[in-house]
Amino acid sequence: MKSTLFSSIVVASLGAKLALAVAEYGQCGGINYTGSTTCDSGLTCVYQNDYYYQCLSSGTAVTTTTTKATTTTTKATTTTTTSTSTSSSGAKGTPVGFAAGTTGGAGGVTVTPTTTAELLGYLSDSTKRIIVLTKIFDFTSYYGTTAGKACKLWTCTNGYTPQMTIDNSVGQCDGYTLYDVTYYNSGASNALVVNSNKTIIGKGSSAGIKGIGLTLVNVSNVIIQNIQITDLNPQYVWGGDAINLSGATKVWIDHNYIARIGRQFIVSHYDPNTGITISNNYFDGTTSYSASCNGHHYWVFLFLGEADQITMMQNHIYYTSGRGPHVGGYTGAYKQQLHLVNNYYDSVAGHAIDAEANSWILAEGNYFKAVTTPDTGSSAGGTEYFVQTVAEAGVCSSYMGRVCEWNRMDSATGTVATRATTSVLSDVGALSAVKGLTPMGVADVPAYVLANRGVGIVN
Ligand SMILES: *[C@@H]1O[C@H](CO)[C@@H](O)[C@H](O)[C@H]1NC(C)=O
Ligand SMILES: *[C@@H]1O[C@H](CO)[C@@H](O)[C@H](O)[C@H]1NC(C)=O
Ligand SMILES: *[C@@H]1O[C@H](CO)[C@@H](O)[C@H](O)[C@H]1NC(C)=O
Ligand SMILES: *[C@@H]1O[C@H](CO)[C@@H](O)[C@H](O)[C@H]1NC(C)=O
Repeated sequence: MKSTLFSSIVVASLGAKLALAVAEYGQCGGINYTGSTTCDSGLTCVYQNDYYYQCLSSGTAVTTTTTKATTTTTKATTTTTTSTSTSSSGAKGTPVGFAAGTTGGAGGVTVTPTTTAELLGYLSDSTKRIIVLTKIFDFTSYYGTTAGKACKLWTCTNGYTPQMTIDNSVGQCDGYTLYDVTYYNSGASNALVVNSNKTIIGKGSSAGIKGIGLTLVNVSNVIIQNIQITDLNPQYVWGGDAINLSGATKVWIDHNYIARIGRQFIVSHYDPNTGITISNNYFDGTTSYSASCNGHHYWVFLFLGEADQITMMQNHIYYTSGRGPHVGGYTGAYKQQLHLVNNYYDSVAGHAIDAEANSWILAEGNYFKAVTTPDTGSSAGGTEYFVQTVAEAGVCSSYMGRVCEWNRMDSATGTVATRATTSVLSDVGALSAVKGLTPMGVADVPAYVLANRGVGIVN
């Protein structure tokens, strides 16, 4: 179905070079632009967003359609194509961004498990497989329960019920009163081990796993598409992570639905996770057990791998209150490179991006609707290029060969202090997985994401 090819458009400059012709990378159109719309010879005026058309050499634009010489700048029709066709990987479409080239179980046998034990075996064996899920596999009580202790780190006085925190070796409960609790081991201490060369593809809108997460440790070439992962001890911090990456490479996490998780929706630690694309997912933070006392889930994404390279694109990040994502914080050899593009942050009562030391983040084309704190700011220690102005969007050109798309914050969203460190552009921006990706116009993000994220769309 729909996907991510957005053509740019075109206004041609034919004919003689005029005195007022615009040089390469200069502006040549856009709302309220009053300068020349003619580019130097050999250059084409290309639509970048409603406010910015730019003179580029023909090799730069993704798609250009030459029209007759005219002074009118016209936006081309946005092409949203996503092949609904099944690729050899068994998934629909193919990944863009860092996971480009991921083929999952391509070339392997297609299997349709019927029992939890079968699924467990297919995921973890060392055979290349396309694993088709046709229902929800409920692992909630598969590994039994633990009668343990937990403490109350938060108290809500407004009627909400906060999460309790499981007392474990991390020691967060030290000094707090301990209560007897029972939780499921599937969420808290087990996970389905996923081996290399697997495609996990759900059919329809109610396929996936319940009560347990997926763990990808030192594996490569995995596609996880169109499944639900839900209900991992949501009332307890340390109740479980939905997707756990460590030393994983080439992983495409696409069109999934994740909700009601005790801990992280996605976590990466501590070995490098490279070639990761997280796209078109619906991350639903609605919870009855909110650490932030507002019905929003706080622990959403935590990226701590030693050398992570992650694209997050066109995801719907809904009703969360923190870690959207939390990146970095480790000193020494650690470095996380992240491209956050065209995500729809929707009703975030707390913070979205939280970039700590050694994180390098390019944030462009994201739409923030009713987000209290879109970005926690430079004091957190991360290095970031968060595009907010025409000038900042234009600066990308000389590093990336294209302008950046800017982020939009609606009137119910907080402001972001300037975060435009150009070394992010020569670092993250110079990677082909980042500069080669053409973001959609930010104005199109909410409608596009709402129509295309989550399960039941592609398969
Ligand atoms: C364009 O100019 C008009 C008139 O000055 C102004 O009201 C409007 O806000 C401008 N639009 C943008 C997007 O800057
Ligand atoms: C998640 O990955 C880490 C490796 O960093 C591993 O120690 C941990 O056991 C994994 N969690 C689960 C539930 O498998
Ligand atoms: C995954 O597939 C590649 C290419 O066929 C192969 O070289 C590699 O050994 C496979 N890995 C595993 C763990 O099966
Ligand atoms: C994963 O690879 C790292 C680095 O080689 C190694 O230290 C770690 O023990 C491996 N983890 C597992 C579970 O094999």
